Amino acid sequence: MDDSRYEDAIVRSWHKNVDAWTSAVRGAEISSRVTVTDAAIVNAVVAQAPKSVLDLGCGEGWLVRALAGLGIAATGVDVVPALISKASVRGGDFRVLSYQDFAAGRWPLKVDCVVCNFSLLGKDIVGDVLRAMPAVLTEQGHCIIQTLHPAYAGEPYCDGWREGSWTGFSSDFTEPAPWYFRTLSSWQQLFSDCGLQLKEMLEPLNNETGKPASVIFVVAAAKD
Ligand SMILES: C[S@@+](CC[C@H](N)C(=O)[O-])C[C@H]1O[C@@H](n2cnc3c(N)ncnc32)[C@H](O)[C@@H]1O
Repeated sequence: MDDSRYEDAIVRSWHKNVDAWTSAVRGAEISSRVTVTDAAIVNAVVAQAPKSVLDLGCGEGWLVRALAGLGIAATGVDVVPALISKASVRGGDFRVLSYQDFAAGRWPLKVDCVVCNFSLLGKDIVGDVLRAMPAVLTEQGHCIIQTLHPAYAGEPYCDGWREGSWTGFSSDFTEPAPWYFRTLSSWQQLFSDCGLQLKEMLEPLNNETGKPASVIFVVAAAKD
């Protein structure tokens, strides 16, 4: 398969798994989220004290609601209309917007923080999104990305498409999508190529396993 077919497969998979995903998130079925990564991303956003947040690839909207509960105004966008409907029913500002739209400059406002929680899963589209990021961030703004920790890359430790799997999820999930793995140095190079600078890297630990549950990158527009 070529890259664009993999990217299409990612979006197709999310269209198909709206109900299963919404149940999994709202039913606290993903233990690493409950024990580590939900709090980690909320804390990373709160640490920036943003007045405005864009949640890119927001899914069913839990993070927008969590931030609202802390007095932080956030808008969630996602390519899947059915996820945006699920999110909107619970209240909050949600809109349908694809990464392709974002990359084309169709997000109209500058924000203090763009957060991408396990939502940057592709290859070229991730570069397209990151290249559009500096124009969307306010002067002191940050983009915060939580993604799979490289410790779980499997072998070999190099960039590449990985087969998707719903192992550990309910049997309601279907059509696992491929995802594109990047090494740490590759992420750093990508940020630099896209006019961004890595400010901080966090590795939230799962105390039960003693292993990192994820990696969080905090990046800002590179200053000349
Ligand atoms: C693993 S889910 C994470 C959802 C949410 N951020 C969370 O923490 O629960 C990945 C999300 O990325 C969204 N997504 C994937 N490709 C996208 C694209 N091209 N444009 C916009 N959203 C996309 C999916 O629809 C899905 O909601």
